[in-house]
Amino acid sequence: MAEKLHIIPHQHAISKEDRERQNGHKGHVLWFTGLSGSGKSTVASAVERELHQKGIRTFILDGDNVRTGLNSDLDFSAASREENIRRIAHVSALMKDAGLVVLSAFVSPYQKDRDFVRECVQGDFSEIFISTPLEVCEQRDVKGLYAKARAGEISNFTGISAPFEEPTNPELDVPTHKMSIEEATAMVVDYINTKIALDQ
Ligand code: ADX
Repeated sequence: MAEKLHIIPHQHAISKEDRERQNGHKGHVLWFTGLSGSGKSTVASAVERELHQKGIRTFILDGDNVRTGLNSDLDFSAASREENIRRIAHVSALMKDAGLVVLSAFVSPYQKDRDFVRECVQGDFSEIFISTPLEVCEQRDVKGLYAKARAGEISNFTGISAPFEEPTNPELDVPTHKMSIEEATAMVVDYINTKIALDQ
């Protein structure tokens, strides 16, 4: 950037605590990472349904949706994935600051990008690793993308022709191949309930 921008952030009159009191719970970012087809969106969606039914304010951000709008200019190169995650990190942080429990489901294959999100969100952040192995994701191949990647029709496909760096220290590891969706959902719901309760 050539010229220094003179930007002085405005102090808002409504505090984080004001919003928490109004909502009856804290804001939080649940960051789901894992291979395509690992079950990130499925688990996030089931978790959201349960939280919503309990009156908790939620919102889901996921790769396939955000990439049709806000991030429709990005491809799957390492640089574009970094920019994809950078934008979503800021959107997630804003939504959390608005008081929501944000469920962000992105492949987010690079540890440095996930570390950036954690830093950007500044607390009330949890990395949830949906640790379904490649063989299982490929066998499921719900969207038929693994077959296309193997046939060379999709380049830079995570797990096939692009890397996935497993989280080194996630708050939660959810092996969806060893449990039912209900069990995986309960695991995440039990976890988040302890994080967003106001009386702690
Ligand atoms: S990320 O790597 O930048 O975090 P993101 O979560 O937004 O990826 O998008 C992943 C989704 O895009 C996958 O679930 C899959 O449906 C689709 N997709 C299309 N091409 C690719 C690719 N080359 N690698 C991974 N996912 C892809």
